[in-house]
Amino acid sequence: MAKAKTVYYCQNCGTQSSQWLGKCPSCNQWNTFVEEVIARSGGNDPVPAAKPVSKPVPVQDIVLDTTNRSGTGSQELDRVLGGGLVAGSLVLVGGEPGIGKSTLMLQAALNMQDRRVLYVSGEESDQQIRMRAERIGIGNPACYILNETATRNIFQHIQALSPSLVIIDSIQTLTTDIIDASAGSISQIRECASEMQRFAKSSGVPVFLVGHITKDGLLAGPKVLEHMVDTVLHFEGDRHYGYRILRSVKNRFGSTAELGIFEMGSNGLREISNPSEILLSHSTEQLSGIAIGSTMEGLRPMLIEVQALVSTSAYGTPQRSSTGFDLRRLGMLLAVLEKRGGFRLGNKDVFLNIAGGIRVDDPSLDLAVVAAIVSSAEDIPVSSKTCLAAEVGLSGEIRAVSRIDQRLSEAAKLGFERMIVSAYHQKNIQFSASGFTIPLVRRLDELFSLLFG
Ligand code: TYD
Ligand code: MG
Repeated sequence: MAKAKTVYYCQNCGTQSSQWLGKCPSCNQWNTFVEEVIARSGGNDPVPAAKPVSKPVPVQDIVLDTTNRSGTGSQELDRVLGGGLVAGSLVLVGGEPGIGKSTLMLQAALNMQDRRVLYVSGEESDQQIRMRAERIGIGNPACYILNETATRNIFQHIQALSPSLVIIDSIQTLTTDIIDASAGSISQIRECASEMQRFAKSSGVPVFLVGHITKDGLLAGPKVLEHMVDTVLHFEGDRHYGYRILRSVKNRFGSTAELGIFEMGSNGLREISNPSEILLSHSTEQLSGIAIGSTMEGLRPMLIEVQALVSTSAYGTPQRSSTGFDLRRLGMLLAVLEKRGGFRLGNKDVFLNIAGGIRVDDPSLDLAVVAAIVSSAEDIPVSSKTCLAAEVGLSGEIRAVSRIDQRLSEAAKLGFERMIVSAYHQKNIQFSASGFTIPLVRRLDELFSLLFG
């Protein structure tokens, strides 16, 4: 009997090797190589995905179809996709288990009007899906649920049903019989995804693939898929908070700057079209350690509450802890405050929290972080009618941020009376509103005299 052909795949990045390696030469992760059988078992028919004979066409002769985008029934999802779903596109929706990927997909399928949707689930039973559908509300009678994991059978059902959208939940459960490896292994995932890709491209039916990512990015499947699919969406958020963010990481048909915000409730996901309103606590009480910063989430400005607590450390080594904000950036800002602002924070514990369980990596939040820390350290509240938007440089200089007019108009709309920005914006601010002032600051000490007198 012929020996089965096996190769080793890095489970993190998908690098292939003929022998086992301790450290992946491509992603430098340790102990990620797993042996997988890739021998094709003889006698099986090839996949039934239709393969039309292709021929080269001059680029100007390709008919541009501008009507091939269709709505998904969810405005936020449409926005992240770049204005709707493109015919024949393959979209990967990744996220940690339990974040709500299945809910998002089922909800889109159930809200789509006049569209036949096939929702293939390899993870949940019909009963479970029906129960979830009850909670969400069934708005589309042509939403079909299929419990199947073999791609051969799935394609047969697709041929019989001819749906206009296919959702696969999840890609890790699919198996194709031309590969002997077990479901969820890199070679299975890759082969099943490429079958789906061939199907989408040849039929023009868009396909959603749901993929799991673990906390440390291992069992990564989706990572190796990223280059195969047209669009990669990340669904993220803290499981203990209701908010979820749908981010586009790669998009062949639109910008990756867009993002959609949802709130998980008892009836599925609710779209949030005005994020600032939920992220601000709107308390009229003046508390120290709180500052409102402006950040861009996609192309939308968003105001967000930054909370800091500075207290004298009980132990020799002070703690620095941060939720929703990069800990290293916090360390940098503390060093700047110490060196350029003259604050003695070396023996203090510093805790930082971005309200709402949202993770922000926009440097324009720096100024609000600094203001919240100093406010807590000095126990002087920042006026609740003030918000801030600027980056802080290593020498304590206050730097300009992008899209300043949009940020200013969002702040004015939400009832703030002033927004502190960098003096470098002086010439390019067009926005003005009555009763709204825009103090310009150049260095940290100017900020402190403005905020705390
Ligand atoms: P799920 O979509 O199964 O997550 P994933 O497919 O990413 O693993 O759902 C995640 C959580 O959402 C689950 O713990 C239950 C919760 N949930 C609600 O809070 N409200 C709802 O209406 C639904 C359908 C789910
Ligand atoms: Mg799921």
